[in-house]
Amino acid sequence: MFSLEEVKDSLEIAGQSHVLQFWPELGEEERSAFLRELAQLDMEGLRGRCEAAAGAAASESRGLSGNIDPVPPEFIGSVKKSDKNNILQWENEGFVQISNKRVGVLLLAGGQGTRLGVQYPKGMYDVGLPSGKTLYQIQAERIHKIQELADIKHGSKCTIPWYIMTSEFTLAPTEKFFEDNNYFGLEPSNVIMFEQRMIPAVTFDGKVILQGKGKIALAPDGNGGLYQALVDNNILVDMKKRGVEYLYVYCVDNILVKMADPVFIGFCVTKGADCGAKVVEKMHPAEAVGVVCRVQGIPQVVEYSEMQQEMAELRGPGGELIYNAGNICIHFFTRTFLQDVAEKFEGQLKQHVAIKKVPFVDARGSQVKPTKPNGIKMEKFVFDVFPFSRNFVVFEVEREDEFSPLKNSDEAAIDSPTSARNSLLAQHCRWATSAGATLLDVHGNSIPPTASSVLARDHPPAQCEISPLVSYFGEGLEKLLKRQKLTTPFILDKKKAEDLQPQ
Ligand code: UD1
Repeated sequence: MFSLEEVKDSLEIAGQSHVLQFWPELGEEERSAFLRELAQLDMEGLRGRCEAAAGAAASESRGLSGNIDPVPPEFIGSVKKSDKNNILQWENEGFVQISNKRVGVLLLAGGQGTRLGVQYPKGMYDVGLPSGKTLYQIQAERIHKIQELADIKHGSKCTIPWYIMTSEFTLAPTEKFFEDNNYFGLEPSNVIMFEQRMIPAVTFDGKVILQGKGKIALAPDGNGGLYQALVDNNILVDMKKRGVEYLYVYCVDNILVKMADPVFIGFCVTKGADCGAKVVEKMHPAEAVGVVCRVQGIPQVVEYSEMQQEMAELRGPGGELIYNAGNICIHFFTRTFLQDVAEKFEGQLKQHVAIKKVPFVDARGSQVKPTKPNGIKMEKFVFDVFPFSRNFVVFEVEREDEFSPLKNSDEAAIDSPTSARNSLLAQHCRWATSAGATLLDVHGNSIPPTASSVLARDHPPAQCEISPLVSYFGEGLEKLLKRQKLTTPFILDKKKAEDLQPQ
């Protein structure tokens, strides 16, 4: 803990003395809380960061510049275009690594979920599935199942540690939620939660914004805060201790995420990659996904918020988007690559700026809710380490099988609770019917499977939900569901799976 004098000096050096302007008005408790908050700031880097943010916000172009090219198709591995045997080989390799306890998963869960508009962490959201499961529960059950599949394949008992990066906003409720739910049956010591740093929002002239008389406007430092947080919280040391060499990093909101996907992990390991990204074909130019591309031959992601419209709209001779490798925020890293990033490159990560309306106190100490943008929030992005990779790979997967994010409330037409729920139910209907089941409506009439997968994604033919504890990705269903007539709504959970009589 720093003394008031020390904090005063540091703020002065950083050009931020105004932060203490209401100090004389604060009570004892407010003062110590404020000092605690200020002590957490990286005072040394503060001036540089504030100036850089103001400079970047003022500059005309915020996107990438230089020689940008799409990733050539021959550099993209693909579930769609690869031979079945290759996919099987990658999957086997992935399972070998999992069963040797060399794989961990890491969830990025420090975001505030502003677009969804809930006051609690997004992972606690229930999209309205028949089972009522939350995103966290679905993810936990997929970890269970993939461990079990690896155990059966290789006859050994394995663990996939689950690292969860939270922030000041999400740590306490996430911890409580996991405790209240008994860690969804996972061993608590294998669920490791840690916190990323917070950084202040600043005005257009680089001054830290006061949100209250004794409170600065703080926000998490972006999902690229991961690399600093790995060091702050000794996560790389923990990985090493556990023998974890490969990390599967993903974002919280994708209801279809294949946890520790053995195919993707096996693909990356087989290719000798130190870093990899899963992509889907971008749907239309304005879709809010970053695009994996190359700048002067070096892999990078151009984030949707920074992409020039003309670039997004470029099409090839067949009408396909030129920049169509849509980033779904699922990444692969080797531990040694992360160690390198931590030791050599973290300081070089780009600061992205977002211009926002940030509530503040004015010079008289009154609370103001601005009606137009008044501040800059700085963020690092998790994919900004791609340029430091020695062997970066891209892996394309099918959207309807692996990507349906929950970003917005149901007021939006896309990426909402309804679209997430429908994608999952549609997938489970496909699994059930291809396992040989017939889905029936409440009157006992059979429901024809919807023909087009795009249509099916938006409109599942029925409410059929399969627990991840029964099937991770559609496997093992034939022996349970062949020739079964399933009256929907139908939930296939473990109990039901035990009760089903073979037909
Ligand atoms: C993200 C990707 C985008 C991709 C899209 C796919 C980044 C920077 N952008 O965009 O390229 O196409 O997902 O759905 O990765 N988070 C933190 N700490 C933070 C901020 C966010 O942990 O300070 C976490 C969130 O909790 C979430 C993930 O990062 O799990 C993604 O954040 P979000 O703001 O939802 O990213 P998008 O803008 O949707």
